[in-house]
Amino acid sequence: MEAGRVSSTGGMLSSTDIGVAVIGAGMAGKAHAAAYRTASTLYDSILPPIRLVSIADVYEPLAEAGAKRFGYERHDTSWQAIVDAPDIDVVSVVVANHLHREIVEALLAAGKHVLCEKPLSDSLESAYAMADAARNASTVARVGFTYRRAPGIAAIRDLIQSGTLGRVYHITGRYFADYAADPNVAISWRFKGEPGTGALADVGSHLAYLTEFLGGPISSVNGGRFRTVIPERPKPVGVVSGHGHSQVSDEYDTVENDDYATFSIEFAGGAAGAVEVSRVAAGHPNGLSLEVYAENGAATWSQERPSEMQLFLNEGPAGQRGYRQVLLGPAHPYVAGGAPIDVSGVGFGQNEGFAVQARAFLEEVAGIPEADSLPRNASFDEGVRNMVLLEAVAESARRGGASVDIDN
Ligand SMILES: NC(=O)c1ccc[n+]([C@@H]2O[C@H](COP(=O)([O-])OP(=O)(O)OC[C@H]3O[C@@H](n4cnc5c(N)ncnc54)[C@H](O)[C@@H]3O)[C@@H](O)[C@H]2O)c1
Repeated sequence: MEAGRVSSTGGMLSSTDIGVAVIGAGMAGKAHAAAYRTASTLYDSILPPIRLVSIADVYEPLAEAGAKRFGYERHDTSWQAIVDAPDIDVVSVVVANHLHREIVEALLAAGKHVLCEKPLSDSLESAYAMADAARNASTVARVGFTYRRAPGIAAIRDLIQSGTLGRVYHITGRYFADYAADPNVAISWRFKGEPGTGALADVGSHLAYLTEFLGGPISSVNGGRFRTVIPERPKPVGVVSGHGHSQVSDEYDTVENDDYATFSIEFAGGAAGAVEVSRVAAGHPNGLSLEVYAENGAATWSQERPSEMQLFLNEGPAGQRGYRQVLLGPAHPYVAGGAPIDVSGVGFGQNEGFAVQARAFLEEVAGIPEADSLPRNASFDEGVRNMVLLEAVAESARRGGASVDIDN
């Protein structure tokens, strides 16, 4: 089972408390800040005391507001202050992808445990360097592929791994977002970099990870294709945070990377796959969906209806077959003993995913054995693997959709 989690060590493993900080107080930074606050309240009380120490952001009003809102002891305005702080043990790095490497390397060198946001970096070269740094560190380094904690995705994985669905024929992954559908959305770090660093890296990195999470190793990708549909965007007046609208000037800047991307997959196990991602898909603020078609039926899940999965099994009279709605609950991963009301029908969202991810990270840092913990977060090597897949899609696009092999 991905996370049929009921066992625990039953008592506090260590009385040494853990000091936590978050670097980046933007959209996802807030989710990390909230997650560390909630982590101890999920499942049994096996974590040592968690001290919420600092939120750091170069834009001080955000850092200050974040620290106040989520109950952190202080705020800082530079990531270096976090590196130098002796009262901080665990740090989430939640800033633009091109900033990950420098910050993560400094944190690991200073002996901090690091949970870095996805994708691991903005270039494969930097990702490899970060994985080397992680290997040489005595602390824990993990990447936040949050969606593996969605009960529906983990449940579908269980259906595959238990053999219930039988041999997988094909998997479709779609991540449609609309945060850039309005041409007046200001230019920001998300729109800069080579083709492949746009929608593909931003939302497609989740899918590259999840298709392998469900379907096993990918052996090649083909049909890589990028589109930039809005070639210029207004410059912001002031600070841009997350996907939100900000005031813009009448000066424009070039969008360098992909608004839309698609590619096909060959899995080493023989299944096929197709992925389509967008940041300009009107009406889909956060439309991640996965569909698995297999020998014994099919299972699908969508972030737009995160508390259910659709299951079709080839059983019963032909005239009575059909997809059935399965409300996710304590019979599925991550639910039992987790949230305060751990029953079907209460609903789960992406914020819960961040909280369970933080919990898994703190359990590992606290030295709780793997067998008694939530499944560990992805390693930096898995973060590299994810970027190898993204780079292969970019290579396929450069070569007119050619097939690009992936080493396994
Ligand atoms: N796992 C998920 O579901 C998920 C969701 C959204 C974003 N992300 C990832 O999180 C990261 C951040 O994305 P975001 O949407 O929160 O970005 P954002 O632009 O909203 O926030 C980034 C913050 O970093 C701050 N910052 C910039 N330079 C800094 C520096 N040198 N030191 C400290 N702070 C600095 C900015 O002021 C900003 O507040 C990215 O890697 C992104 O891919 C993951």
